[in-house]
Amino acid sequence: MKQFWITSGTYDYLKSLKAKDNSVVVMEGEETAVAFKEGQEEAPFEEARHYEIVDEVGNLSDEGYVVLNNIPVTSEGRPLFEERFKDRAGTIENEEGFLAIRILRPTRNNTYVVFTEWDSEASFKKWRESQAFEKAHQKSGPDSGEKPSFIDGPSYLTKLQSRNEE
Ligand code: HEM
Repeated sequence: MKQFWITSGTYDYLKSLKAKDNSVVVMEGEETAVAFKEGQEEAPFEEARHYEIVDEVGNLSDEGYVVLNNIPVTSEGRPLFEERFKDRAGTIENEEGFLAIRILRPTRNNTYVVFTEWDSEASFKKWRESQAFEKAHQKSGPDSGEKPSFIDGPSYLTKLQSRNEE
């Protein structure tokens, strides 16, 4: 199964890891820089969050805007959560500016990650305000009346942006 690693650190340090392994993607987060990598071969990170990729569409890009939706899930709820994502709307793929999605199963904690990458923040915002977003979340999203049984705490977003390096 393909794997995924996420770590944080200073931008320059993470860039030095990318110099050794070009498949590492480095972005600016709100507080620190963040690097991620996917594949079979272990990431060159000292400490990382580790995931298995449950579903994926599109290629990761060094240039883009990434939003991670971090969703704590109970251990009993994992199969149901993954079922729901197997049946996901699958309309995000058609959105303008969409680059990639990964559904990430945590191996060391309870928090799944819905990773999406966009060509720009504007494209993400447009989808976030769209009917497609609303439809995909009728049973689960921020505006749905009842909280799904598998949820184990509040979900939170992490936003990352590639640095403009001309
Ligand atoms: C309280 C907040 C949220 C919860 C609990 C939640 C949970 C879920 C669940 C369970 C699904 C699978 C479909 C279903 O069964 O409903 C889903 C779909 C999805 N969610 Fe969320 N979500 C939330 C907000 C967000 C936000 C803010 C984003 C932005 C990154 C996001 C990204 C996605 C994506 C990309 C899909 C798949 C859509 C598609 O296939 O077209 N979610 N979400």
